[in-house]
Amino acid sequence: MITKTVQIDENKIDESLIKEAGEIIKQGGLVAFPTETVYGLGGDALNPESSKKIYAAKGRPSDNPLIVHIYRLEDLDRIVKNVSEDAKKVMDAFWPGPLTLIFEKTDVVPKETTGGLDTVAVRFPIHPTAMAFIEAAGGFVAAPSANLSGRPSPTLAKYVCEDLNGRVDMIIDGGNIPIGLESTIVDMTSEVPMILRPGFVSKEMLEEVLGEVKVDPTILDANSTERPKAPGMRYRHYAPKADMAIVRGEDEKVSARINEMAKEHKECTVICVDEHVKDYPGLNIKNVGSAKDSNEIASNLYKILRECDDEGVEFILSESFSDKGIGAAVMNRLIKAAGHKIIDV
Ligand code: TXA
Ligand code: MG
Repeated sequence: MITKTVQIDENKIDESLIKEAGEIIKQGGLVAFPTETVYGLGGDALNPESSKKIYAAKGRPSDNPLIVHIYRLEDLDRIVKNVSEDAKKVMDAFWPGPLTLIFEKTDVVPKETTGGLDTVAVRFPIHPTAMAFIEAAGGFVAAPSANLSGRPSPTLAKYVCEDLNGRVDMIIDGGNIPIGLESTIVDMTSEVPMILRPGFVSKEMLEEVLGEVKVDPTILDANSTERPKAPGMRYRHYAPKADMAIVRGEDEKVSARINEMAKEHKECTVICVDEHVKDYPGLNIKNVGSAKDSNEIASNLYKILRECDDEGVEFILSESFSDKGIGAAVMNRLIKAAGHKIIDV
């Protein structure tokens, strides 16, 4: 398959290119597109053959359900039922935006899209190009992140190309992605809404609207043997090729331990915050951003993990970062990338 790559500026959307992308989806093809969280790999959510193609292109197990993307609220009732008052409140507060909600599905949504489940994950993104594309595609676009299964989600079109060139019909290059981590997923079918994947919309933000919010216990406990409720959280996701460990503790102890461990590994790269770059003289450093700015860290993390792959890094030592707000999502992805290897000092 020849993949056509096009550039679309979100501030000046080229309608003819969007129409072309939409036609590809309507005819059962695949298009990678930008959203405010990460790039998505889109297909027609209501066409079972398209969903099968998405799994094949990604190399993803087909029991791992896809998120259905919509571009306007009126379309929700076609694909879900029993929308609770709580759900209406969160939709009101955070849609469109980086929040995915789980509902009971209607018969319109094929089981191929939901990995066999009776529920469906729905997201209403706020990225202008994503919205225009979903509309042109007929209104319901199933899209996982646009990476090969097991690799960090792409935040730049060049990473989408690296993974999916020859596997999709079109890639829409929308430049850099503002958030850089996947959407928050909240299950609205449980009695108390439950966070299945942390993201930009934090627990605190949800609590302000809903009062009580639970968190899937498997997210909090690295050693949990329970099955995560979002099937995708089971797999060793977000993984760089290098071996990776996180060093956690007081600043001075962390830098001392990292310096000591780095001596034992030739091809070692250190991921640290801007404020600590000076603490690692002579080492290969990836500056993830200021310790005071979790948004900056979120937007840099996957890019840095991919750069480590491109540079053939064999061993990564990372500092541990704040877990407040979107920091919870940063630490969730970082710990998964490290395969749960945390060294406490
Ligand atoms: O930000 C995002 O959410 C991006 C962009 C492209 O929108 N998409 C994304 O999709 O991250 P993906 O497929 O990489 O992750 C979807 C996650 C998986 O962990 C999957 O198991 C979970 O959502 N999921 C989907 N449907 C579900 C359902 N019905 N019940 C529980 N978990 C579900
Ligand atoms: Mg993904």
